[in-house]
Amino acid sequence: MPVETRTAVYGGSFDPPTYGHIDLIQRACKTFSHVTVGIGYNPNKRATFTVEERLEFLRTSLADCPNVTCDAYTGLLVDYCRSIGARVIIRGLRAVADFEYEFQMALANRDLAPEIETMFLIAATDKLFLSSSVVKEIASCGRDITPYVPPCVAQALNARYSE
Ligand code: PNS
Repeated sequence: MPVETRTAVYGGSFDPPTYGHIDLIQRACKTFSHVTVGIGYNPNKRATFTVEERLEFLRTSLADCPNVTCDAYTGLLVDYCRSIGARVIIRGLRAVADFEYEFQMALANRDLAPEIETMFLIAATDKLFLSSSVVKEIASCGRDITPYVPPCVAQALNARYSE
């Protein structure tokens, strides 16, 4: 039974989304009444995939999660949360290595917006090593990435690295 709460925002780059991200979102949407997946992007920074491509990856991969919305934002994550009335930020923790960066971001976000809480979900044990950069590295070396990313992402990565 989902806890009745306002929208939770799972902010990230998702460049591209992995099964680690998808697993976290599928668990979050069972816990929160609505989850907004927010692609944080900087128009001046070059990403592997466009915002539109990343939105399509997420929407395709999360089509069976009716209480999930996929969106994109520029600027501060907390300002985006305020703009949609969200009071919770979700982030994933894979290993101790993630903690320092996430701790700093959570404290900065709390200083910027004390009314918004950051909550951490622990990554699934079989996905602890997954990250967008690791998957891109494997794809660039021509190895199979279908165990790590949704089919639409695997297809796009293979096309990108076969160019
Ligand atoms: O998947 P990532 O790269 O860890 O996502 C990081 C992201 C996009 C959530 C974060 O960099 C972000 O929200 N950036 C926007 C600026 C911001 O709010 N920074 C944190 C407080 S200074």
